[in-house]
Amino acid sequence: MKKIVVGITGASGSIYAKRLIEVLVKEGIQVNVVATDKGRQVFAFELGISLKNWIEELKLKYENIVLENNNNMFSGVASGSNKYDAVIILPCSMGTLAEISNGLSRSLLTRAADVALKEGRKLILVPRETPLNTIHLENMCRLSKMGVGIIPAMPGFYHHPESIEDIVDFLVGKILDYLNIENNLFKKWKDTEYED
Ligand SMILES: Cc1cc2nc3c(=O)[nH]c(=O)nc-3n(C[C@H](O)[C@H](O)[C@H](O)COP(=O)(O)O)c2cc1C
Repeated sequence: MKKIVVGITGASGSIYAKRLIEVLVKEGIQVNVVATDKGRQVFAFELGISLKNWIEELKLKYENIVLENNNNMFSGVASGSNKYDAVIILPCSMGTLAEISNGLSRSLLTRAADVALKEGRKLILVPRETPLNTIHLENMCRLSKMGVGIIPAMPGFYHHPESIEDIVDFLVGKILDYLNIENNLFKKWKDTEYED
């Protein structure tokens, strides 16, 4: 993996995006972040920091991160000739999910997802909503049939998390596993003694 687009939408769960970006950047992967307007708002609301300021801080230490403008269709991220290895949208709102599943590429983020689909590249969506209605489920089903990785923001508890960070790392580790990026973000399952 060399270049990854990370999309952030206005679903709850900005903490997942923050952690994923940190891990990818430290891995030396080029990360282009595209946030929707609602994504920026929810990020600031949930984490108490502006996405722009946080990325600027990260840029003082790492060169391999860029914050894109979601209105800028002239970005390299908008074109199939620019070979990104994967597009990951997390958290993914039901609105953005619906746009992608219906081929509406009106913003840079949904265009990047559309490009990944047409070029047969990895697209991972991390939906966050509950309960789910039939429209949500059908949109996920349609995208899944096209090879999209649907990795819902659903925590597991079999690794005995002790903190919010453990819960976040479980999901981020699952995403990295899906991309075959080695990680020790959560304890991998092995044969376990269990007595009923
Ligand atoms: C604090 C907050 C939390 C939200 N959480 C969710 C959520 O978990 N899932 C979701 O689909 N929408 C959620 N929404 C609603 C989306 O932000 C809204 O549908 C928005 O239009 C999505 O736009 P976007 O896909 O362009 O980011 C939330 C909104 C707010 C203000």
